[in-house]
Amino acid sequence: MHSKHKPADKIQDLQFFGEFGGVNPSISDSSTYTFLAAKSMMDTFEGNTEGCYLYSRHSSPSNLNLAQAISLMEGTESANVTASGMGAITAVLLQLCGQGDQIISARTIYGGSYAFLKNFAPRFGIETTFVDITNLEKVEKSINKHTKVIYCESVSNPLLEVADIKSLAKIAKKHNLQLVVDNTFSPLSLAPALLGADVVIHSLTKFINGTSDTVAGVICGTSKFIASLRNVNDGACMLLGPVMDSLRSASVLKNMHTLPIRIKKHSENALYLAQKFEKDGIKMIYPGLPSHPQHSLYKDLYNEEYGFGGMLAFDTGSLKKADDLMELMQQRNLGYLAVSLGFYKTLFNAPGTGTSSEIPHDEQAAMGLTDGLIRFSIGLDNDIERTYQAMKKCMVELGIL
Ligand SMILES: Cc1ncc(COP(=O)(O)O)c(C=O)c1O
Repeated sequence: MHSKHKPADKIQDLQFFGEFGGVNPSISDSSTYTFLAAKSMMDTFEGNTEGCYLYSRHSSPSNLNLAQAISLMEGTESANVTASGMGAITAVLLQLCGQGDQIISARTIYGGSYAFLKNFAPRFGIETTFVDITNLEKVEKSINKHTKVIYCESVSNPLLEVADIKSLAKIAKKHNLQLVVDNTFSPLSLAPALLGADVVIHSLTKFINGTSDTVAGVICGTSKFIASLRNVNDGACMLLGPVMDSLRSASVLKNMHTLPIRIKKHSENALYLAQKFEKDGIKMIYPGLPSHPQHSLYKDLYNEEYGFGGMLAFDTGSLKKADDLMELMQQRNLGYLAVSLGFYKTLFNAPGTGTSSEIPHDEQAAMGLTDGLIRFSIGLDNDIERTYQAMKKCMVELGIL
């Protein structure tokens, strides 16, 4: 637990003044910037002029404002925002690894990340060994002289496995590896960098933005690593170009101001439903339940103010049942049948055939991802008992309960 870290205070206390004294910082609506002295331009190319901007693919005032807010929240020295979560993940891994290197990755990760590691990174000579990340012995045994990175999600998509970040960080340190953690499912609840991770990634598309109106991402790490990503000669963010637009970073920053209250409500609602349906006899997957295999680990790692997060899952038994339930819940206005997460309304999908469909069927079976599994991102419903009753009615009607 990192009880001394107060991420909400950090977000709240960050003070910006707009160009004309506006309460929101002015949006930098430029792709390029003037220099009053030619020498400052040269210095900026070399990456060493404070307060000077070169070109918006490198950095922009609006993007730096958002990056600062997120790095304060994560407790890292610095951050760089990107155009999407995948833009963040691919830039980090390509920055850290090259021809002949190996990555050890959790086997239960977002389907896009899995597809990148399995199908795309080998084109650059980067091989990935997928392991059960909860088996620390296996993780350590998979390390060889080519290993550069251990990659995982703090809470995995979609099975909600919790990574033992503290122990993984120890293993990484011992073997001189970088521990890269995707913290998309658990902002505020978990702060991986404070638990020892070297790099923390988010898809901002999800809880942090929270309004399902954009895709965006962020990379948090040391100032040195973030500067290396922006390096004009060999920086993955600079050269691959996953840059966020200033208008968007300004809107994500405004949404961040309500993140602490939103996360508390998402967590409160998800815990309520998980407890109720478990009592009704459904085998719920939720880290806040003592029945979850990593419940006590989560309690050891989390910031309890923010609870166990807004994601939960359960197996309906078959794809047909999952589809019928999702359609009925949407008809009854209990949420939307949609991928993604972190919206004010509940979102649900069957990841085996959706967001994790990049993972072959036999591998899905090995990791316990069944066709009938529904993943829920629980919304901000004010009256969660009303939601519970209505969801329960759908399940009774379909014979799931
Ligand atoms: C855990 C996780 N990481 C990364 C991503 C990718 O983010 P984006 O869609 O913003 O590129 C997703 C998207 O679904 C995700 O769920």
